[in-house]
Amino acid sequence: MGVSSTAPLLLRAARGEQVDRPPVWMMRQAGRYMKAYRDLREKYPSFRERSEIPEVAIEVSLQPWRAFQPDGVILFSDIVTPLPGMGIDMDIAEGKGPIINAPIRTQEQVDQLRPLDPETSLPFIKTILQALRQEVDNQSTVLGFVGAPWTLAAYAVEGKGSKTYSIIKNMAFSEPAILHQLLTKFAESIADYVRYQIDCGAQVVQMFDSWAGQLSPQDYEVFAAPYQKMVFEKVKETHPDTPLILLVTGSAGLLERMATSGADILTIDWTVDMADARKRLGKEVKVQGNLDPGVLFGSKEFIRDRILDTVRKAGNWGHILNLGHGVLPTTPEENVAHFFETAKNLNALV
Ligand code: CP3
Repeated sequence: MGVSSTAPLLLRAARGEQVDRPPVWMMRQAGRYMKAYRDLREKYPSFRERSEIPEVAIEVSLQPWRAFQPDGVILFSDIVTPLPGMGIDMDIAEGKGPIINAPIRTQEQVDQLRPLDPETSLPFIKTILQALRQEVDNQSTVLGFVGAPWTLAAYAVEGKGSKTYSIIKNMAFSEPAILHQLLTKFAESIADYVRYQIDCGAQVVQMFDSWAGQLSPQDYEVFAAPYQKMVFEKVKETHPDTPLILLVTGSAGLLERMATSGADILTIDWTVDMADARKRLGKEVKVQGNLDPGVLFGSKEFIRDRILDTVRKAGNWGHILNLGHGVLPTTPEENVAHFFETAKNLNALV
């Protein structure tokens, strides 16, 4: 018997095996739209506590698993979690996202960054991932995740989220050498972090390049794509069998470029019709997505129709059903439950 016969559905689909229905999970499936999460947030008001105290992070990761039995259970953490281990102090502010106390703007600051040593600076990740594997016991696939170099650099340089990315674009177009050094350091550390997550139990890892869609295609090829590739190549050298997923938001103009990243699976956002994505990428490329998260505000029937439409357009191979980006914090929990229930009974519907 091969490994594949006992592997969970999402992992098998991610490896390109033929499966009975597309596996389903939801980006940001743990978090604010769940009452259980909001209750726990009262007891642990700081995001860093919730994500770095293993028992709390394990509990939060498992809340959607217990409620909906998704085919993927993602580690509860954040893309900026590894930054303190490189010497970049950060916090996550309520309603705002990551805040970097001393943004990286100079050559000296780049020189001072330390390579990440996940064993020493992120020991809680091992505890969390091992517990998740044990808890879901191959009934679901445990996913790890990281931020891509460009997106992490955007936070490190801007100091917080941005609408215009003026500070990092200023650096990119006036002092590119400094930025390239920063991106190289992130790529090396992030590759080590992905390897560590896999060694700790992650069966699939998704890399979020959330803000790479803010770049023109020509600049994406200079500041985002080469560093995505660097991470994926390094991980594949030591861990060739772990499927790697890439997400870029606002990627409609970048799909073909994403396909050259070395990722095994591409996340498609809802600005691209799934049938068009399949046409543009070819039959060999595996995809994830791509319902508009806003669809979950619609009626049960509407949600079901959109699931069916997406699944039909994606075809019956190489598709992981998901939203095109994270679930929105005000989404009704019962609609999330309906989404998962419908998706898991698809072989009866399609
Ligand atoms: O998917 C999951 O269930 C795992 C949880 C997860 C979080 N962050 C927890 C979180 C994941 C996968 C992330 C990744 C992440 N973090 C990304 C990439 C995904 C994407 O949306 O493109 C980005 C860009 C970040 C940075 C970040 N952290 C943002 C933009 C925010 C939200 C700001 C806000 O409040 O709207 C955060 C904070 C954060 N990370 C929250 C959660 C659940 C919300 C804060 C909270 O619950 O207290």
